[in-house]
Amino acid sequence: METCIFWTAVILGILPQGPVSGAVAGTVRLTTTVTPPVKPFLSVSWSFREANVITSTSKNVTGPQYAGRIFLDRATGSLELRNLGLEDSGEYTVNIIPDGGLQQQGKTILNVYTLISGASISSPSAVLIEDKSSTNLTCEASGNISSTVWMKDGRPLGPTDRVTFSEDNGTVFLHPVHSSHHGAYQCRVSNPISSVTVEHDLVVNFGPHNLSIVGPSPVSPGPGVALQCIAASVPPANFSWTFNGNETHVNSSLYIIERVVHCSLLVILHAARCSDPQRPDVTRGGRS
Ligand SMILES: *[C@@H]1O[C@H](CO)[C@@H](O)[C@H](O)[C@H]1NC(C)=O
Ligand SMILES: *[C@@H]1O[C@H](CO)[C@@H](O)[C@H](O)[C@H]1NC(C)=O
Ligand SMILES: *[C@@H]1O[C@H](CO)[C@@H](O)[C@H](O)[C@H]1NC(C)=O
Ligand SMILES: *[C@@H]1O[C@H](CO)[C@@H](O)[C@H](O)[C@H]1NC(C)=O
Ligand SMILES: *[C@@H]1O[C@H](CO)[C@@H](O)[C@H](O)[C@H]1NC(C)=O
Ligand SMILES: *[C@@H]1O[C@H](CO)[C@@H](O)[C@H](O)[C@H]1NC(C)=O
Ligand SMILES: *[C@@H]1O[C@H](CO)[C@@H](O)[C@H](O)[C@H]1NC(C)=O
Ligand SMILES: *[C@@H]1O[C@H](CO)[C@@H](O)[C@H](O)[C@H]1NC(C)=O
Repeated sequence: METCIFWTAVILGILPQGPVSGAVAGTVRLTTTVTPPVKPFLSVSWSFREANVITSTSKNVTGPQYAGRIFLDRATGSLELRNLGLEDSGEYTVNIIPDGGLQQQGKTILNVYTLISGASISSPSAVLIEDKSSTNLTCEASGNISSTVWMKDGRPLGPTDRVTFSEDNGTVFLHPVHSSHHGAYQCRVSNPISSVTVEHDLVVNFGPHNLSIVGPSPVSPGPGVALQCIAASVPPANFSWTFNGNETHVNSSLYIIERVVHCSLLVILHAARCSDPQRPDVTRGGRS
């Protein structure tokens, strides 16, 4: 093939390799790398699937489906195609015969895409419990989808032993769910001409995990101190405090001791406990 073209003495490659991307109803320009000659070209012709698009010699012959939607730059041979349809996708060939010099040819691929729209994430509505439930997140959109990429809380989401993806990334499988799966998922669906990102909040019930009490230790006798019980939990944990084994009737995460009496300090800190009704209590470790 190449030897044959060599013998007919044609300069090849006057179009960038492409592919060129266009949007349905949009416009693309297939631009040659030719510098305009002093004497106009004898002939510029474009073809698509063996059929004439435009042949411009001393007159112009335009293919019927291109009337009113192409523009030929006679100086460089570049072609503009307007009001694109999906059926315009394919390989275009340009042939230029200069007034003296070698014939020039170029080929390029045009891909026409529909804009991506109506993206959404769906997930079964069941209540999810850490380690017990499994679920799916499915990202759907209309239009020519080239790629689907998932993020969680703005960071790329990759596969783990509990997270797997369908072949086209359309669905994420969480099996079983983990506390770290609680949060906002983003799915970005894109093609060369458009991109849409949608978000979905996933609620995973877990905990309370990682219980701890924070507060000063030791403190001086005098005005009050505050102890805070911290627990990672969805939904938020309920708290109850006991002091020296007695119920305090304090049920917020914050336990405020209004007056610290001399000598009772260590007892207070050692005995401060916070608990969730379903979980073992934690007791602040002694630091006597
Ligand atoms: C052919 O088309 C080119 C580019 O649009 C234009 O410059 C030229 O005048 C046209 N020639 C004729 C004979 O209509
Ligand atoms: C996940 O999706 C598959 C089909 O894609 C379905 O069979 C399965 O029941 C789904 N799992 C959950 C937990 O919804
Ligand atoms: C876009 O989608 C249409 C309809 O499914 C299809 O005919 C066309 O080939 C697709 N275009 C590309 C560039 O994938
Ligand atoms: C699926 O996602 C991975 C990374 O998240 C990405 O590298 C890959 O290109 C995606 N595949 C498709 C078909 O979108
Ligand atoms: C509990 O603490 C560990 C270690 O710091 C951390 O990796 C994990 O994410 C925490 N769990 C929750 C649910 O916050
Ligand atoms: C937490 O407290 C609320 C209101 O007092 C109550 O409705 C809920 O059942 C409690 N949750 C747990 C896990 O005890
Ligand atoms: C609290 O506990 C202490 C010692 O365990 C006990 O002496 C005291 O009577 C209790 N106070 C109340 C109000 O129950
Ligand atoms: C403790 O819980 C009761 C109901 O269970 C509520 O009326 C009260 O406001 C709560 N107290 C605090 C300090 O949150």
